[in-house]
Amino acid sequence: MESYRIHLSESEMPQEWYNIIPDLPSPPPPYLHPATGERITPDDLAAIFPRALIEQEVSPERWIAIPDDIRRIYQLWRPSPLHRARNLEAALKTPARIYYKNESVSPAGSHKPNTAVAQAYYNKVEGITRLATETGAGQWGCALALACNFFDLECTVYMVKVSYHQKPYRRSLMHIWGASVYPSPTDRTQAGRDILAKDPETSGSLGMAISEAVEDAATHPDTNYALGSVLNHVMLHQTIVGLETKKQLALAEDSPDVLIGCVGGGSNFAGFCFPFIPDKLGGQDIRVVAVEPTACPTLTKGSYTYDFGDTTGLTPLIMMYTLGHSFVPSGIHAGGLRYHGDAPLLCQLVHEKVIEARAYPQNPVFEAARLFAETEGIIPAPETAHAIRAAVDEAIVCKETNQAKCIVFNFSGHGHFDLAAYDAFLEGQLKDIELDPDEMIKKALAELPQVKGK
Ligand SMILES: Cc1ncc(COP(=O)(O)O)c(C=O)c1O
Repeated sequence: MESYRIHLSESEMPQEWYNIIPDLPSPPPPYLHPATGERITPDDLAAIFPRALIEQEVSPERWIAIPDDIRRIYQLWRPSPLHRARNLEAALKTPARIYYKNESVSPAGSHKPNTAVAQAYYNKVEGITRLATETGAGQWGCALALACNFFDLECTVYMVKVSYHQKPYRRSLMHIWGASVYPSPTDRTQAGRDILAKDPETSGSLGMAISEAVEDAATHPDTNYALGSVLNHVMLHQTIVGLETKKQLALAEDSPDVLIGCVGGGSNFAGFCFPFIPDKLGGQDIRVVAVEPTACPTLTKGSYTYDFGDTTGLTPLIMMYTLGHSFVPSGIHAGGLRYHGDAPLLCQLVHEKVIEARAYPQNPVFEAARLFAETEGIIPAPETAHAIRAAVDEAIVCKETNQAKCIVFNFSGHGHFDLAAYDAFLEGQLKDIELDPDEMIKKALAELPQVKGK
């Protein structure tokens, strides 16, 4: 019998996360202090992060044990299945083998709880009682609300205003799990008030919401900040995805030719592909493809330079591909991909040409999502649909060139709360690009911070 799903038992769930830092071709550039431009110290970060996560951020250890309390919560949905997309393959008439790792089976519907649970745990252990965060599409806010609920922590979520209105049911989920949710920018923080004074009609952005959440955490001693992507410790927690995928491909007696994931801040992509990078660096012929929207083309059109992680310049300066911290992407439906920067570890590997990047407009992405829903049944999150578009295109190339490649992508989340976006697509209302991003990028890049020695 042909198998459609490759499962691991709960006891086969990885016991350690994989840290890519010791395996990188060169050491990662340091984070710099936003005010002084000097290297950031652990003490600088201690105001908003627990010690354990600060240590993970710079750890030279290749393997980091997953505490039992985290593993017990992971077991509610992990290991997640790896699916062979046989119906999609048949519809495309491709000789390629297509697999997808299904992270949509978590209670919050995406990969985000993999790090939310870890972050809530380490904060709880260090005596913190509340976490503040931002959310774009609402997936991360839901994941953190869920995790805080498990560890009995309060949770405050600054939700990008456009998504707050586009995705009311994500708000409901956060409320069920006990979080307080505010449309950002708000008048609760100085950062929010300053942004609103300049542009009262702003649709918000992840960069703005990060400024608000960081300020909230920095001004309340009982509160820390939790970030759903970008930072090294978030990539680390997400590697459970790729580690499981590796074991599952081995069970299927297959190995990847192409690995694909969508990129907002980089966490699902990094978690999925980092465990394969040592194989690639060791000579295995694997292409690793990061997919982003043309409306927010960080990796394909950004500059590789130091920039702030947020809009107002509260976060450390990070060496990354950036569109400029003042770049506000148009309100496309993949809200989780609307971020001006990307994870520095991922950016470094793109810069060193280990990872390739490509961008797609909304309509072809939703066409691929519809094909996937028709063939495999699951309705993808608009973010995830970017990876599906690229996987479908790779499979079409295989058909044209008659190559039976193994294409594996990360199915980062389902789209059950994105149905308004699907309605807009089905009614032909989706615009591909509302504003000219090239002009906006030029303007935002002109506002990059000056950094010593750069
Ligand atoms: C389903 C889904 N996929 C992908 C992303 C992008 O985030 P990241 O690049 O950190 O995985 C998001 C962000 O909210 C998301 O909700």
